[in-house]
Amino acid sequence: MSNEVNAVIIMFGGSGDLAHRKLYPALFGLFQHGVLKDHFAVIGTARRPWSDDHYQEVVRDSVKEAGNTDQDAIAAFAKHFYYQSHDVTDADHYVTLKQLAAKLDEQYEVGGNRLYYMAMAPKFFSTIATHLKSESLLTNTGFNRLIIEKPFGHDYESAKALNDAITGTFKEEQIYRIDHYLGKDMAQAILALRFANPWFKAVWDKDHIKDIQITLAEAVGVEERAGYYETAGALRDMVQNHVMQLLAYLTMDEPEALTSEAIHAVKAKAFDDLHRYTEDEARQNFVRAQYASATVDGKKVPGYREEDGVAPDSLTDTFVAGKMLTDNPKLAGVPIFIRTGKRLTRKSTQVTVTFKDGDGLFGHTPGDQLTVYIEPNEGYTLEINAKKLGETATLEREWLNMRHDDQAVSDAPEAYERLIGDVLAGDQTNFNHWNELAQIWRYVDVITRAWANDKTMPTYKAGSMGPQAAFDLLKPGDHKWYWQPRHTQLAD
Ligand code: BG6
Repeated sequence: MSNEVNAVIIMFGGSGDLAHRKLYPALFGLFQHGVLKDHFAVIGTARRPWSDDHYQEVVRDSVKEAGNTDQDAIAAFAKHFYYQSHDVTDADHYVTLKQLAAKLDEQYEVGGNRLYYMAMAPKFFSTIATHLKSESLLTNTGFNRLIIEKPFGHDYESAKALNDAITGTFKEEQIYRIDHYLGKDMAQAILALRFANPWFKAVWDKDHIKDIQITLAEAVGVEERAGYYETAGALRDMVQNHVMQLLAYLTMDEPEALTSEAIHAVKAKAFDDLHRYTEDEARQNFVRAQYASATVDGKKVPGYREEDGVAPDSLTDTFVAGKMLTDNPKLAGVPIFIRTGKRLTRKSTQVTVTFKDGDGLFGHTPGDQLTVYIEPNEGYTLEINAKKLGETATLEREWLNMRHDDQAVSDAPEAYERLIGDVLAGDQTNFNHWNELAQIWRYVDVITRAWANDKTMPTYKAGSMGPQAAFDLLKPGDHKWYWQPRHTQLAD
């Protein structure tokens, strides 16, 4: 059975970095898997005046840089790409775009399906949405779907204003607010782990769980994105979206079915259930910091304030750790520790559930620890108490370790391919609904306000795992970070 989807894809931000690094390779993956085949065309738009030939060359380069080598397939794929220089504020340009889309629709026998992809500076999102309506770009036959990249606003008010603008043009069921973490295989695997194993289901509650930990660590610094990052910081760049999505998977109730509606219902509840702090409580339960220069493995690494494009007195957080709670009665009181940062020891996204200690036949035994490695080294470990070989009653910690094979991981579709494929299939499961996002922003805004008047910014050494305060946060109740990598030589 063919899984081919017909579509004219209009890419706002067609000359941008995201399109180059992620979106063209993802579309190529869909092409290779037959989802995009004969009946599709992509219109790239951006300000610069490019020819179709040049654009196709850019697309071919992007696909090759992502490691693809099938030259014939790459050439055939790139022929579906067209370029339209576009000023997003000029209504006339939308008319030209509409005509080109109609022409390509006819040429490729698409049948009216349109996918609008906003992959550019967020300040233009509302303008584009408004013009798509005023210049009547949406078709009357086929589907019209919008993919919108982050950041979706920078606080609740701006997110709401943006949402109002796009819902003036698109209905909720046509809007796909993307969070690429939801396309990650091992993030999705949390659902199967929790709900396909009666054993885990039976112990996933406050009687058995001591704490939940979510770590999104990056070894890279701000790279060339200071312009954006200065306006975001780790809280908005990672916590507001990726961390929250993992948290929802870890704390939500079991959905009634594996459908988009059922999953969104329990996710929305998980966000409603987040225990709201006052600003004072937020100050006590969240830690922020900025990376400072250090010598990492013999190499001098600049501090955040020394990076290109960063203000020398910047108060932008590059690290956030926090203790969160849910009011869901099943997990009420269980601390959920989160942390994320740039320039940490190693790149790793992982979550750990630590179960409570036990007392029994073998005396006091430490709780088992279940870890899901989301990326890299995709897999699971479970640390348990086990009898030492050759002894009668002496225990030791054993590590049950399952890692997916590297080849299998690289053969699986990449997050963006999976997510764009979902959009083409009309499946909203792995996208953010507005009501979920609204709740997340309400939560995050309290933390932002709590920090707003604080003119000091603690630092941590580049290459470390964050400031001491992020470790101290876990001390009450005898918690500690499960993952404490020490594979970096650090010096001042
Ligand atoms: C993005 C952030 O959303 O996620 C980046 O804007 C960050 O700052 C990236 O580097 C991390 O994604 P991944 O998939 O590499 O963990």
